[in-house]
Order: sequence, then structure tokens, then C-alpha cells
Amino acid sequence: MEKITSGRMLIALILASAVFLGMEKALAQDFSDNSCILCHSKLSGPRGEPVKLLKQSIHQEVGTTCDSCHGGDPKDADLSWRAHKASPEAALKVGFIGKPSEEEIPEFCGKCHVTIKDNYLNSNHGAMGIPNCVTCHTSHSVQRTSLAKIRQEVCAMCHETPRGQVIEALIVEARHRLEQVSDLVEKYRAYLPSGVEDQLNSVQAQDATVGSVFHTFSMDNIKEQTESLKVKADTIAQEVEELKEELRNRKKIGVGILIFTLCAAAALFYYRKLLPIPHD
Ligand code: HEC
Ligand code: HEC
Ligand code: HEC
Ligand code: HEC
Ligand code: HEC
Repeated sequence: MEKITSGRMLIALILASAVFLGMEKALAQDFSDNSCILCHSKLSGPRGEPVKLLKQSIHQEVGTTCDSCHGGDPKDADLSWRAHKASPEAALKVGFIGKPSEEEIPEFCGKCHVTIKDNYLNSNHGAMGIPNCVTCHTSHSVQRTSLAKIRQEVCAMCHETPRGQVIEALIVEARHRLEQVSDLVEKYRAYLPSGVEDQLNSVQAQDATVGSVFHTFSMDNIKEQTESLKVKADTIAQEVEELKEELRNRKKIGVGILIFTLCAAAALFYYRKLLPIPHD
């Protein structure tokens, strides 16, 4: 018994270390050909920090790394290093952007987040250039966002009135209504015409644009968007209610027909009983 247990433990230990070594190798592979990370992880202060910060960010998770934002070729350390030392113009020629200035940040992030950038640049915030993308999201520890981020602590840096909370409440209310309607459609899916589900999909697609409308930083736009979501959700709810009413009526008619048939059968039965029994 003793022996079996320790034998098993040994195997478990070997397996665990194999998994561990495998993981180490996988991680090493991820970084072994990325000269930006290799070199910067050896640097201290603000030059080394991005490597650690990025590890906990949504960008690293989706494979957006140093060169995705800053440009340069992670496979060619020499070229990157020469680009570091070249003039900004010469560096750009080999695709190295380096550190963006405050004014360049919206375009820098907006390479990938195009609609958000456009909305931001047309906003009050964009016109002033402050707050910019990294004031609110940071540069290297960007996290997945949520409504909870539209809170006073970010906005209160400049606004006394609780704009974040007002916007959050509008969005929460619209989303709550949309969830109720999705549940309703789910429940009656089997009976609903396919048009209703298409309508729901289109409202959900519109809901997915709320995050980018938010970056217009205009109360009017945000109100219009959330109001339109609620109106469309209400229309769908109305259609489902009408269907429920129809199903209820059909049920009543069904029960009516059943009772009538049973009565008719009973009447027929008694009527036959009343007939004189034929003799031959
Ligand atoms: C051989 C080491 C090495 C490699 C490889 C390297 N860097 Fe650097 N990097 C540095 C050092 C050192 C600095 C400090 C500033 C300087 O000397 O140019 C720096 C600075 C920077 C800066 C800040 C520039 C500024 O103006 O403050 C950015 C951004 C940057 N590197 C990104 C990258 C990216 C992206 C890559 C890969 C394509 C990369 N680095 C590859 C060593 C390196
Ligand atoms: C999502 C885009 C993004 C990614 C990915 C990214 N950076 Fe940056 N980085 C920025 C922005 C924006 C700035 C300028 C604002 C600032 O200094 O925070 C910056 C600034 C820097 C600076 C200058 C810091 C200073 O204080 O002077 C260095 C060095 C740097 N990045 C290196 C890296 C390295 C190395 C990686 C990969 C581990 C990386 N960055 C990944 C967006 C990014
Ligand atoms: C004033 C602060 C602020 C500024 C400036 C800002 N954002 Fe945001 N961003 C937020 C908040 C808060 C959310 C969460 C909104 C939500 O969940 O509806 C968000 C959400 C996002 C999202 C997710 C959108 C989605 O559909 O879920 C992305 C991507 C993003 N921001 C990128 C950017 C970029 C790029 C810039 C600059 C052009 C920028 N942000 C400027 C505060 C800001
Ligand atoms: C090379 C393309 C690229 C660049 C440049 C870039 N991002 Fe992203 N970003 C992505 C991708 C891809 C995702 C993940 C999208 C997803 O899964 O929703 C993402 C996700 C995000 C999110 C979270 C979105 C969410 O769903 O909550 C925010 C916030 C964000 N980025 C902000 C920024 C900021 C700020 C900058 C500039 C400092 C920046 N991004 C630069 C590609 C990029
Ligand atoms: C760095 C300062 C700063 C930060 C941080 C900031 N704002 Fe602003 N914001 C301004 C300034 C300045 C204006 C233009 C003047 C005004 O309307 O008060 C403005 C305007 C606005 C407007 C337009 C007002 C309207 O009536 O349409 C909205 C909405 C807004 N901000 C929302 C936010 C939200 C939400 C946050 C937090 C996620 C935030 N702001 C963070 C400085 C800031």
C-alpha cells in the first residue's frame, strides 16, 4: 500500500514537472524571438516596466505586443536598435514609431480602434486633447473595460457633476430592458416568427456599439442611443405579448372544442340508450 502510494506520487511529480517544464518552454518560445521584450526586460525604470505591465493587460492576452503599437521588427534586434538611435524620420522609414507624444496618442491607439478614435477626436475631450486614451485606459496595463469604469474616480479628476454615474445609469437601464426582452424571446422562441429574432439580433448589435458612442462624450448622443435601444426593446416585448394573448385565446378555443366534443359524445351515448332495443 505504502509502495503504491509513493509510486503514484512519483509519477504525479514527474508529470507535474513535465507540464511545468513544457509551460516554461512555451513561454520561452513566446519571447525568445521577440527582441523588444528580451532587451527591455533587462532595462530598469520606465524602459523595463512596460514588459511587466503588459503581461497583465488585455493586449498581451490577444497578442498585441510592443511592436504592434510601437512598430519596429522584433525579429531584427540590430535594425530596431539602429532605429532607436536614428532621427524620428529615419526611424519611421523602417517602421519604428517609438514613443508617441501626447498629441499623437489618439492616432497611435486609433490605428486599431478606428471608430472610437473618430468619435473621440470629434468630442469635447478630443478637441482639447485631454483626457486622451491613456489618461483613462493607461498605456501598458490596459484592461477590459466595463460600465463600472464610467465612475467618478476617472471623471472626477475634472468634472464636479457626476457625469460618469449619469451615463452609467442610462446604459444600465437600457441593458436591463434588453435582457428582460431577450429572456422573453428565449421563452417563446418556438412560437415566434423568425422576424422577431432578427429584430432582437439587430438591437443587440446596436447595443454593442454603445462603447464607441460613449467616446463621443456627448450626453445628447448617449441619451439618443440608449433611448432608441429601449424603444426597440419595447416594440419586441409588445410583439411577444400579442403572441402570448393569441396563444391564450387559442387555448380557450381548444378547451371549448374539447368540452363541446365531449358533450356531443355524451348526448349521442344517451340518445342511443333511449332508442328501443331491436328484436329479431
Ligand atoms: C538591444 C536592446 C533593445 C532592443 C532590441 C529594443 N529596445 Fe527599445 N529601447 C532600448 C533602450 C536602451 C531604450 C532607451 C532609449 C534609447 O537609448 O533609445 C529604448 C527605448 C524604447 C522606447 C522609448 C523611446 C523614447 O523615445 O523614449 C520604445 C517605445 C521602445 N524602446 C520600443 C521598442 C520596441 C517596440 C522594440 C522592438 C521592435 C525595441 N524597443 C527593441 C533598448 C532596446
Ligand atoms: C497598446 C499599445 C502599447 C503597447 C502594446 C506597448 N506600448 Fe509602450 N507605450 C505606449 C504609449 C501610448 C506610450 C506613451 C505614453 C507613455 O509614456 O505611457 C508608450 C511608451 C513607452 C515607453 C516610454 C516610456 C517613458 O516613460 O518614456 C517605452 C520604453 C515603451 N513604451 C516600451 C514598450 C515595450 C518594451 C513594450 C512591450 C513590452 C510596449 N511598450 C508595449 C503604448 C504601448
Ligand atoms: C474620459 C475617459 C476615456 C477616454 C478619453 C477614452 N476612453 Fe475608452 N473607454 C472609457 C470607458 C469608461 C469605457 C467603458 C465604456 C463601456 O463599457 O461602455 C471605454 C471603453 C473603451 C473600449 C471598449 C469599447 C467597447 O465597445 O466595449 C475601447 C477599445 C476603448 N475604450 C479605447 C479607447 C481609445 C482608443 C481611446 C482614445 C482614442 C479612448 N478609449 C479614450 C473611457 C475613456
Ligand atoms: C495593433 C492594434 C491595437 C493597438 C495599436 C491598440 N489596441 Fe487596444 N485592443 C486591440 C485588440 C485586438 C483588443 C482586443 C479586442 C477584443 O477582444 O475586444 C484591444 C482591446 C482594447 C481594450 C479593451 C476593450 C474591451 O473590450 O473592453 C481597450 C480599452 C483598448 N484596447 C485600448 C487601447 C488603447 C488605449 C490603445 C493605445 C495606447 C490601444 N488600445 C492600442 C488592438 C489594439
Ligand atoms: C482631464 C479632464 C477631464 C476628464 C478626466 C474627463 N473630462 Fe469630460 N470634459 C472635460 C472638459 C474640459 C469638457 C468640456 C467642458 C464641459 O463640458 O465641462 C468635458 C466635457 C465632457 C462632456 C460633454 C458635456 C455635454 O454636456 O455634452 C461629457 C459627457 C464628459 N465630459 C464626460 C466625461 C466622462 C464620462 C468622464 C470620465 C470617464 C470624463 N468626462 C473625464 C474634461 C475632462
